[in-house]
Amino acid sequence: MPKDANTAADKKKLFIKTWGCQMNVYDSRRMADILRPFGYAVSEEPEDADMMILNTCHIREKATDKVFSELGRMRRLKDKKEAEGGTMIMAVAGCVAQAEGEYIMERAPYVDLVFGPQTYHELPEMLAKLTGAYGTERIVSTELDTENKFDSLPEESNDQGVTAFLSVQEGCDKFCTFCVVPYTRGGEYSRTVQQIVDEAKALIDSGAREITLLGQNVNAFHGEGYDGKSWNLPKIIEELAKLNDLDRIRYTTSHPRDMEMSLIEAHRDIDKLMPYLHLPVQSGSNKILKAMNRKHERDMYFKIIEDLRKARPDIALSGDFIVGFPGESDQDFEDTMDLVRQVKYASAYSFKYSPRPGTPAANMANLVREDVKTERLAALQGLINEHQLEFNKNCIGKTLPVLFDRTDKKGDKLHGRTPYNQAIHVTASERLMGHSANVVIDGAFANSLTGDLELQESILKSA
Ligand code: 5AD
Ligand code: SF4
Repeated sequence: MPKDANTAADKKKLFIKTWGCQMNVYDSRRMADILRPFGYAVSEEPEDADMMILNTCHIREKATDKVFSELGRMRRLKDKKEAEGGTMIMAVAGCVAQAEGEYIMERAPYVDLVFGPQTYHELPEMLAKLTGAYGTERIVSTELDTENKFDSLPEESNDQGVTAFLSVQEGCDKFCTFCVVPYTRGGEYSRTVQQIVDEAKALIDSGAREITLLGQNVNAFHGEGYDGKSWNLPKIIEELAKLNDLDRIRYTTSHPRDMEMSLIEAHRDIDKLMPYLHLPVQSGSNKILKAMNRKHERDMYFKIIEDLRKARPDIALSGDFIVGFPGESDQDFEDTMDLVRQVKYASAYSFKYSPRPGTPAANMANLVREDVKTERLAALQGLINEHQLEFNKNCIGKTLPVLFDRTDKKGDKLHGRTPYNQAIHVTASERLMGHSANVVIDGAFANSLTGDLELQESILKSA
């Protein structure tokens, strides 16, 4: 690795635009880590960049269109730079790159480099090939072999702040019929416990107090432990909970099939594990769940929720829903509404079904009309919003520990998160950044809370 490439004189500007999930946000940061020793410094502005990476998401509709329209805009910057005698390397990364690599190369001749989520650790070699004396003209790198990636990544740059993300698992073997992830991210792969603990320690040393363990199917985690045996998610959570300066642990995203009892019990037994769970169900209809190949029925989902609430009565639940999957009747949709009424999510995400090329559902018959999808989405989102507001309002008057993670844009307030992952704005000194303090909740909105530090409350009362 070129040790002295980091001097100000040869600093190169790197612009990365990221779409999609937390995994992509994590990957973008790691791309910056890889390129840093080669003189690249991240810039917030695309103008005049030496390298531009669009890290893309393919999960829902119009993904490819969005990439091409962004590429069109970025191309003007590249043309301008080249007209002035400079160069700009343009790269497309992520899941659209994985799925549509060759097509991107064909349609956008100004793109130099296309690489998928499982090959970005080879960026230095790709760059050397691109820019070297015997430079290949353009490169597409979209193998799905994950074995090497985490081994080859440099140390985490550790600048994530108070709340940090740590990727522990990638890929998916579930093959839900609507989803591109098994094709764009490849099969399930877990990092070793040693790698994860080392990265967690580095994050904590640089100020992280909350770590969210990331994975497309994070509760299918089965990484190699210190003893050479495979460890599951609750075991790695227990190990991380031993790290002194770490206050909070979260994990996302989970699949109901992998919601083992030991993980449910971890919510009862491990104080640092936050009472919040994102557990997508997608539909409340058994017929649709089957067509989606979700490998579980609605009753199994209810049983998990029941067990979770027994283990941790205050747990806040979140989920994902798809409306308008092929064959979804009014009754199937009503089953989804009924499931939502029974579970009462603290927050949830819902989407109109969009056919993804190459997935089994893309060839299914009985498509749901667009206007019906729109109607159903509005009804579902209305119900979810009601529950979310109710969940937030139920917090008024309670005292909750808040971890302060950043200063608020406006003035003297700090932004923090409750254990239930609600955003909260509190008037507090900047000295509380990175610390937890008890807050008495006095206001609740659709997406956030307000409150006063408990200490201030008691002073006010005694005055
Ligand atoms: N259409 C609509 N929503 C989708 N999701 C995944 N694939 C599709 C699709 N083809 C949603 C699911 C998933 C979330 C990340 O995106 O709800 O949980
Ligand atoms: Fe996609 Fe289903 Fe895997 Fe989730 S579990 S990533 S929805 S295939």
